[in-house]
This record gives sequence, structure tokens and C-alpha cells, in this order.
Amino acid sequence: MTIDMKKPLTLLAVLLTLAGCGAGGKKNAETVQPRKSVVVYYSQTGGTEKVAKEFARQLGLDTLIKVELANPYDGTYDETIARCQKEMEGGEVSPLKAPGVDVAAYDTVFLGYPIWFGTYALPIKSLLKEVNLDGKVVVPFCTFGSGGRQSAEADLKAALPNSTVLPSYGVRAARVDKAPAEITKYLIANGMLKGEVETLPDFSAQRKVTAEDAALFEAACGDYQMPLGTPDTVGERETPDGTEYMFKTKSAGPDGKESVFTIYVIRGKEEGAKPEFTEVVR
Ligand SMILES: Cc1cc2nc3c(=O)[nH]c(=O)nc-3n(C[C@H](O)[C@H](O)[C@H](O)COP(=O)(O)O)c2cc1C
Repeated sequence: MTIDMKKPLTLLAVLLTLAGCGAGGKKNAETVQPRKSVVVYYSQTGGTEKVAKEFARQLGLDTLIKVELANPYDGTYDETIARCQKEMEGGEVSPLKAPGVDVAAYDTVFLGYPIWFGTYALPIKSLLKEVNLDGKVVVPFCTFGSGGRQSAEADLKAALPNSTVLPSYGVRAARVDKAPAEITKYLIANGMLKGEVETLPDFSAQRKVTAEDAALFEAACGDYQMPLGTPDTVGERETPDGTEYMFKTKSAGPDGKESVFTIYVIRGKEEGAKPEFTEVVR
């Protein structure tokens, strides 16, 4: 949790809420989540819905609200891209399907979305326009093809200056089967589930990649359909599950300028474990 000392009252409220001191609602025996919590999510192809259901299951929440638009994005991928681009250029925000989304009774909203164009999907923009989240704790989670978790989180914080937006959880669509274990760790680390998680060490200093590092990068990222650049340097750290790598890659952008991406890869401890690309930060 980011502690903003300029907002002591908000912080106190969050700590009390996270400790389960709020009034009303339901509480699962093993969880310490805020008492009046709801999961609100948008999902077009089902990935974020799986993650939303997993959050609800682990927290013992029975209320999930799916965000729906009056005019849903139900076309093909290319049609969705084309419609989004037109709406973004025109500054249009598509209205929610009536009767909208009512979260007045909840003080904490677990908010799930796919990443679209490096930020939260447009239907969440519709939600934020129509639904007042002031004073609430917002716990963001997302799924993505390659990344966008951090930029979406920053955009959400900017769009919700009167809410307390916690650090987000995110998973690549290709690894959504890994979400249950990761969500448990996320909830424990953020004080919403009882248990212990190890504090991870810092990554080692970045060093030039060797042929072996480049092969590991290729094994993890080679089948991703979009360019991720050429690995240049790498740092690593040991985690309870294996080794995590932080690669810096270089690529020439469309304007000829060099872009540097940060790409995270994990390799499990099991013999012959295939390295997995977990997230890119552009
Ligand atoms: C219109 C659109 C834009 C997308 N933009 C991005 C993007 O900028 N970065 C990314 O990593 N994935 C992007 N994706 C992939 C989705 O984030 C990913 O498939 C996600 O898991 C879909 O979630 P869902 O199954 O809940 O709809 C985009 C998908 C769509 C349809």
C-alpha cells in the first residue's frame, strides 16, 4: 500500500477498513478484507472475468457486478480496435447499460479490467463517468496481452483523486491459470488475507546479457506476437518459486527514437521449467 502522509485520515480509514473494523457486510473466517466489498469488472473475452471470480472466491465475496454497455463491444478484435480508436479520437464515452452500476452500499471496490491501448478498457471509463467512487478504497486488477498494469494504475489514480487506489494486481492473458496462486500472495501482501509472504530481495544490478540470458529471453518471449525489442541488460533475484529476471530491451520506435522496455521473466525451480514472460513495462 502506498502511504500518503498528507492524507492521515484517509490512511487511518484504510487501515481500519483493512483490519475489518468496518460495519455491516459479510466476513469470511480466513480473510481480513474490508467488510463491505464488491467485485466490479469488465471483460470482453472472459480472461478478466476468471480473475474477478477468483478474487471473489478467495475473499468469500458473493457480489460480482459485470460492467455492461448499452452498445456493447461485441464485434471482432479488429472491429473493437476500430470502434475504440474512433471513440477515443472523438472523446466519446459510451454509456453503461441501464440501470447502471450501484456501489453505494460498498466501501471497497475490487475493480477489474482488461488493458486496452495501455490503460484500463474503455468501458471502465464509462463506469468512472457514471459511478461515484469518491471516498472508497479501489483495489484494481487487470489482464493484458503483454503489459499496461502500471500505466493503467497511474491513470486510475489520476481519474480517482478522491478514492484510495491500492497497488494493482495484473496477469498476462496467456498465464491466467497462474492467477489463483498469485492472487493469494497479492491479498496477503496487501493485508486482505491472513498468511505470510516472503519479502523479495531487490534485483541484482543490471549487467550486459550473455548468450545464455538471450536464449532464456527468447524461450520466454519468442512466441509473443508483438515486438519486445532486443535484450540488452538483465538483473535477477531469487524468489521462493524460482528466479525472476528483469530484462531491459532496446528497440527503434516508429519515429526512429530508441525505446527501452522493462520485461519481467520468471523461471520455476522445477527441472526443465520453461521461462515465462510475465509483464512488460513500456
Ligand atoms: C481493443 C483492445 C486493445 C488492447 N490493448 C492492449 C494493450 O495495449 N496492451 C496489452 O498488453 N494488451 C492489450 N489487449 C489485450 C487484452 O488486454 C487481453 O487480451 C485481455 O486479457 C482481455 O481481457 P478479457 O478476456 O477480460 O476481455 C487489447 C485488447 C483489445 C480488445
